[in-house]
This record gives sequence, C-alpha cells and structure tokens, in this order.
Amino acid sequence: MNRKVFSQATISESLDREKFGHPLYFYDSIGSTNNEAKILASNGAPEGTLVVADEQTAGRGRFNRRWSTPKGSSLAVSLVLRSKLSKTQISHISILGSLATAYAIEYSCNVSPKLKWPNDIWINQTKIAGVLVETSYNIEVPEWLILGIGINVNSGPYEITNSSYPVSFLANIIGHNVDRVNLLQQLVHNVGILYSQLGQSSIIEKWEERMLWKGQHVAVVNSGNNVIEGIALGLAPNGALLIQLHNGKKSEIYSGELRLK
Ligand code: BTN
Repeated sequence: MNRKVFSQATISESLDREKFGHPLYFYDSIGSTNNEAKILASNGAPEGTLVVADEQTAGRGRFNRRWSTPKGSSLAVSLVLRSKLSKTQISHISILGSLATAYAIEYSCNVSPKLKWPNDIWINQTKIAGVLVETSYNIEVPEWLILGIGINVNSGPYEITNSSYPVSFLANIIGHNVDRVNLLQQLVHNVGILYSQLGQSSIIEKWEERMLWKGQHVAVVNSGNNVIEGIALGLAPNGALLIQLHNGKKSEIYSGELRLK
C-alpha cells in the first residue's frame, strides 16, 4: 500500500470535508502541539483549529510526564475547541478524545482498542495512545479547551515515558506500517461525529463498552498517593470512575492512576 506523504498539503486535502481541522497548522518539528494550540487559542484562534506535528521535542502527558513523538512515525495533534459547553459536556471531552482515537484505530488497523480510565488507549495490554485535555477558564466559564491526542503509529516511543505499564505502537501490533494521513483523517472525522453527542449518556455507554478491566479488582492511586481499591463498575454521568468498594458502597473517583490488582 502506498502511504501518503505526511505534509500540510496532504493533511489539509484529507480534512477538506471534516467539521474540524480548519485552519490547519502543520509543523515538521515543534516542542508540544498542545503548547502551540494554547498560544493560538489565547490569540483568538477559532474552534476547529488543528495543530499537527511530525515530531514533538517536548511532548507532555498527564501529570506532566514526557510524551515521546519520534520524527516521521507518530501522530501528535491538538484541537482548539471554544463552543459554550455545560459542565457535563466539558467532563466528556477526554472521553470523546479516547473514543474517537479507538474508532480511528479500529477503522484503519482492524483491531479493537480498549479504553483505560481516564484517557488511555490500550491494545493487547499495552498503551498505544493518550489524550491530554487542557482548559483556560475565565470566571468559571472555559474560554477554550485544547484536546491533545498522541498515537504511537509506526515506531517508538524511543524513551520509556512511564515505567508503570508497557507501551507499544500500532505497526508492532498489526505487522505493517499505517498511513498517518488516513489515520488522522479518521480521528478528526470521529471527533466531529462524537462532538454532537457531548453531554449525552450514549457517549458514556460507548466508552464503557470498551472499558479496560471492567468488573475486575482495581486500585486507583491519587495524587496524594492514597490508594482506593474495589471493583471497576464503569463511568458516572460526569465521567468519574465508578468503583464498588469492599464495603459494598459505590465511590466516584475524579483523578488518579488506575492499576489492575
Ligand atoms: C497521556 O497519556 O498522559 C496523554 C498524552 C498526550 C500526548 C499528546 S501528543 C499531542 C499533544 N501535545 C502534547 O504535548 N501532548 C498531547
């Protein structure tokens, strides 16, 4: 299969009919697409502005971990959103990002990714992609949101970004390289479709269908290093993780690192 050159021209053409991806900012190399998108957003960039880079030299993940985007082999994208959204809709943005990533991978690679709360995409017990949502609030109302998505496609990551779980890349799993222009177009396409479902229970249900470790005994370590253990039940309507504690009570968890017990 002939792969398209990964460039401003080919990406822009592939996104021609999509709801998002206009204007498009393409960089051969950049520090972080999320940082660039934040600068553009704070200077008034419209909803749908997309920042794409062939390489990130200072990519970031959750908890400010490093995110590796080696040149010529991965996807690093950041989308500017600035519609007026309710609190529930905002809490669904990272759910939307991980679901859209799973759908794009499934369509392009014929594999079925699982979703690890809160925003990881896993295949075969390894992490393949991650989502990082960043927001600027102006008196409790978000001025803009940045939906950042990184997918390990044809190689890498070259450095271990987090030793607590194994990482891999799509070509390693399916046995051949993947066309990044097509994968990106599918990603933006699915973000556009799911955007109209923000705030609805259907988006939660779709995420739960792919939930990693559903019904299993898990532990969540929060930022204060407290550990909460129980059975992973699913998501609350606001995107929080629902866990059944050992005393039978249900608990909603808003942030932390999920592990299998
Ligand atoms: C995570 O798994 O912790 C989230 C990783 C998010 C990485 C993406 S790559 C594009 C965008 N730019 C960044 O610096 N981070 C996000």
